[in-house]
Amino acid sequence: MQKILVTGGAGFIGSNLVHYLIGNEQAEVLNVDLLTYAGNRASLKSVENASLYHFEQADIRDHEMMTRLFEAFEPDRVMHLAAESHVDRSIDGPADFLNTNIMGTYIMLDVSRKYWEGLPAGRKEAFRFLHISTDEVFGSLEAEGMFREDTPYDPRSPYSASKASSDHLVRAWQHTYGLPVLITNCSNNYGPYQYPEKLIPVIILNALQGKPIPVYGKGENIRDWLFVEDHVTALLRVLEKGNVGETYLIGGNNEQTNIDVVHKICALLDKHRPRGDGRSYAELITFVTDRPGHDLRYAIDATKIKNELGWEPRHDFESGMEKTVRWYLDNLDWCNEVLHGSYNLERIGLGDRR
Ligand code: NAD
Ligand code: DAU
Repeated sequence: MQKILVTGGAGFIGSNLVHYLIGNEQAEVLNVDLLTYAGNRASLKSVENASLYHFEQADIRDHEMMTRLFEAFEPDRVMHLAAESHVDRSIDGPADFLNTNIMGTYIMLDVSRKYWEGLPAGRKEAFRFLHISTDEVFGSLEAEGMFREDTPYDPRSPYSASKASSDHLVRAWQHTYGLPVLITNCSNNYGPYQYPEKLIPVIILNALQGKPIPVYGKGENIRDWLFVEDHVTALLRVLEKGNVGETYLIGGNNEQTNIDVVHKICALLDKHRPRGDGRSYAELITFVTDRPGHDLRYAIDATKIKNELGWEPRHDFESGMEKTVRWYLDNLDWCNEVLHGSYNLERIGLGDRR
């Protein structure tokens, strides 16, 4: 059975990936995660005793520790997800983003390369390093057009600039040292275990608490939403079938304005958890000061991964959103556990913190 070293496996996408791999007995997994505010063992309770699952609380910026973990676990593949991931936090405090996303990726590449160079021929040939990145590296679209693999980089936030830097490092390690890398750039994910600082869980939790639902600007910005399990299956398809050195864009062909997303969630909450006074949650929608440098529109052309690797999403927005809203309603304890002591749904990202 393959051994996969996953970084950031206690975060949103990482925990969904680990559940999928362990649930399907598809690989032996070492999850390396620092457990920042965004990483929580509460997201991995159902797998923590599985014989195929191992966890190590460690910092990807710790070269010695990463070297030791590679030597002990001897992975066949690396899936690198660990990152600082929230745009608003990157506006308030960019340094953590540069340190983790750029230096952390450099250290993962350096340790992987040295480990890979020492592998016997067959295993060396088969080794893969998959770097999980974002469509935000391409910047912002106007009303027309879509991001493709050959779209020039144009990152605009500290977060996306740090992810763009990490993508360049990954390509440099392939070009210079021959490390067998793959890169994916995906659009906005939604689904279970997303830390309640991102739009969808923020809406759900504020609504349930009867608080104003904060919509930045006029709510006209557009994101291309993908259910997280579909992202996971795309990553695994790229890992197994992707051509070394190539980039694959992943998206759900599902563009939505923020205000439409908010209305959809309010309608689902009205259906599944009606307010006592019979009024709609939509009455709580409140337009607030816009995000500085707010990218207008993201949209992915996912033709390459569809045509070359045969991947397509299985969830449409209706079924994915229904599952997501129900998951949060059924898992409010998880929300309280991961928020406890670190964040209370307050507005961040106005650039006025140091
Ligand atoms: P997340 O913030 O939910 O999780 C990040 C995880 O990384 C956490 O478990 C955290 O503890 C861990 N981590 C952070 N710094 C670390 C360090 N120094 N050492 C070890 N672990 C560390 O993020 P996510 O939304 O799950 O995103 C995962 C990856 O996918 C990121 O690289 C992100 O850029 C990328 N991505 C996310 C989306 C999205 O919509 N969420 C879309 C495209 C790409
Ligand atoms: O496109 C992929 C990216 O998607 C990932 O790389 C990032 O890691 C991920 O966080 C996400 O970035 P966004 O900035 O698009 O996601 P967020 O959920 O923070 O915001 C989605 C949209 O909703 C964005 O236009 C800002 C808006 N928003 C967000 C919040 C938190 C609001 O209107 N109100 C809010 O309270």
